[in-house]
Amino acid sequence: MAEPVGNSGLDRVLVLEVTRVTEAAAIAAARLRGRGAEKAADKAAVDAMRRELARLSIRGTVVIGEGEMDEAPMLYIGEKVGSGEGPEVDIAVDPLEGTTICAKAMPNALAVLAMSERGGLLHAPDMYMNKIAIGPGYAPDLVDLDASPADNINALAKAKGVPVSGITACILDRPRHAELIAAVRAAGAAVQLIPDGDIAGVIWTTDPEETGIDIYLGSGGAPEGVLAAAALRCIGGQIQGRLMPANDEERTRAASMGITDINRKFKLEDMASGDVIFSAAGVTDGSLLDGVRFNGEFAEVESIVMRSKTGTVRRVHTRCRDTSGGA
Ligand code: FBP
Repeated sequence: MAEPVGNSGLDRVLVLEVTRVTEAAAIAAARLRGRGAEKAADKAAVDAMRRELARLSIRGTVVIGEGEMDEAPMLYIGEKVGSGEGPEVDIAVDPLEGTTICAKAMPNALAVLAMSERGGLLHAPDMYMNKIAIGPGYAPDLVDLDASPADNINALAKAKGVPVSGITACILDRPRHAELIAAVRAAGAAVQLIPDGDIAGVIWTTDPEETGIDIYLGSGGAPEGVLAAAALRCIGGQIQGRLMPANDEERTRAASMGITDINRKFKLEDMASGDVIFSAAGVTDGSLLDGVRFNGEFAEVESIVMRSKTGTVRRVHTRCRDTSGGA
């Protein structure tokens, strides 16, 4: 059924338009795959994303971006993007998710963007967030950030109807996760460690048959937590997160961004609400998306783009002229 004119929510055309934005960022970053140049690849993705955002008919505000205005020249928090005409939207970006994996040409680097109606995305400061996420089809709050890893694994195994040994948790490979990893293994579950890229880690939980991952656990970036929540809002699943300020400066920063209770456990709807669009394009090959292929004057990009209002999930394979400046 066609959507009525003047319906609330985001214009459906934006779903396709945002794909162009993440495609452009992915192509630009892919030119610098494997060069050991994190900053240059990130900058290329940022420049391309900003250029494409300027062409969208939106009055956008970056709520999650490259940092505060004084530390990021582009896509900084509060920056106005878009043509200046059209709906007022909030935008969260991670132009290159996995700068190190792109620099090393390892799997799963992505260009990521989420868009919501004004006020739909948590203004998450750049600090760690403790996260737990599972895919769709489970009772609300089946797992809980405040429960022990063993309790969460047991609850999930029971609900899935498998022995605990049939559960795999995805965790970032970091020394800070040593205890968590040991606890998950002691509970009888398997652990898949990833070097970087926990937005993909969370999204993998939504398709355990394909990815083999049932639950995401551990701490990673708070901005990545909100982007992952935006994806789950569209595709289904559950996520909880709590900020982990390292010092008073981070506490002050969170307060200045409107977070009044630093200990609050954010649920999915607290991080991404209303009508939300999520788009990601593959930079390097990964199990979520293929990376960019260059072929003469063309580039081929694979994207996943989804919208919460309709629940539509599109996989888009695009061949376009490579205007990223490569050979
Ligand atoms: P970058 O692309 O900014 O390098 O982030 C990669 C990432 O692995 C995220 O996916 C994750 O949330 C965060 O870094 C984890 O931070 P840290 O590397 O400090 O553990």
